[in-house]
Amino acid sequence: MFKHIDLPSSKLEVYELLIPTLQNLLEDTEDRVAVLANSSSLLKYFLKNVSWVGFYIYKNDHLVLGPFQGYPACTNIQIGKGVCGSSFLNKKTIIVRDVTKHENHIACDALTKSEIVLPIFINNEIFGVLDLDSYVISRFTATDQKYLEIISEIIGIALSKCTP
Ligand code: SME
Repeated sequence: MFKHIDLPSSKLEVYELLIPTLQNLLEDTEDRVAVLANSSSLLKYFLKNVSWVGFYIYKNDHLVLGPFQGYPACTNIQIGKGVCGSSFLNKKTIIVRDVTKHENHIACDALTKSEIVLPIFINNEIFGVLDLDSYVISRFTATDQKYLEIISEIIGIALSKCTP
């Protein structure tokens, strides 16, 4: 059963609580969709000012929309296109502080102002990306990158334990 909690006000404390909560949540999950669905839900619950959080999964030479929390989003993204396709291609985290000033950005929601995309690996092989959007400019900082990279790794480990 999900326990509702009062979230700390500091970003660091939120992440310090989110990480063990996610590890516990994913511990006995053996299905990839279930891992991704619960991870997106927990991230949305814990992180303030995040309008959309979800996954794009590599399938048949492009990225396909996976489990997410938020409004409906773009279904297919070509490799190298947008922040997601670019993060996937370069296997690197990308922070976009202001999407209106970023050329290679695909707008799925006109109100989105900033974004962070992180690659997800299963046993060192790229699986897809984790994408978080915000209606607030410069929502994502180096602190978010540090903790979200740990979270992406936890999700990758949980995925590696699932039957594909
Ligand atoms: N903005 C992303 C597209 C996905 S949506 O934000 C959910 C991009 O540029 O790749």
